[in-house]
Amino acid sequence: MGDKKLNNKFQDATIDGQKITAYQLGKNSNDWRNGAGTISDGMDTNKNSHPTRKLTDSAKNIVIYFSRSGSTELLASKIAKKTNADILEITVKDPYPSNYPKTLSRANFERENMDYPELNMELPNLDQYKTVYLGYPIWAMTLSHPMHSFLNTYGSQLSSKKIAPFMSEGGYGQGDSVQVVKEILKQQGAINNTFTSSLVVDGNKVDHSDKQISDWLR
Ligand SMILES: Cc1cc2nc3c(=O)[nH]c(=O)nc-3n(C[C@H](O)[C@H](O)[C@H](O)COP(=O)(O)O)c2cc1C
Repeated sequence: MGDKKLNNKFQDATIDGQKITAYQLGKNSNDWRNGAGTISDGMDTNKNSHPTRKLTDSAKNIVIYFSRSGSTELLASKIAKKTNADILEITVKDPYPSNYPKTLSRANFERENMDYPELNMELPNLDQYKTVYLGYPIWAMTLSHPMHSFLNTYGSQLSSKKIAPFMSEGGYGQGDSVQVVKEILKQQGAINNTFTSSLVVDGNKVDHSDKQISDWLR
């Protein structure tokens, strides 16, 4: 299927040595349809490899992200490279389907029932980090559900961090996602957080986002 054919220039993209698969990159707006229909590799971003987890003793910043179809993962990779940040991927026990309509109906059910997915990951000690770059795709104009679960589970451990939200979306913007991040952190007892402005990139254009990322980082 044409969708599956990756443009060569995207095939070199990696995160911590692993290839990033993002079938939506480079699609024109007709094919892109604001992200509707995007397939994933069926295991969120890591069908054939382990979740990304690059942790060093020296990094002062960490990128924590979820990505189903690879665009947010590519953004995460670019941000981590530019900031020398460590990287932690959010993974769930039951990954979202490769198929878009199935993902959508699962996501709708989860949202309507506030039944967010169980995580399949542990959080390392975050003491060494000053800034947490928090990355997620937008789902239904709000935060995608694995990031909900992450903040609900580990929010209190983000106290005193500078939070830099970044996201990829289908063209409709960040919705209320940053507000929701703030609310969950508060509910979980996180204190003394500061927030930067957010970085919002169309999921099919992440490969062209270097200048936008650099401007945002400044
Ligand atoms: C369940 C679901 C709901 C979505 N809802 C929206 C939306 O409300 N607004 C929007 O602009 N894009 C929406 N999208 C598109 C994604 O935000 C976009 O494709 C994003 O780049 C995916 O990031 P990822 O590749 O890191 O998973 C949705 C995608 C999915 C799978």
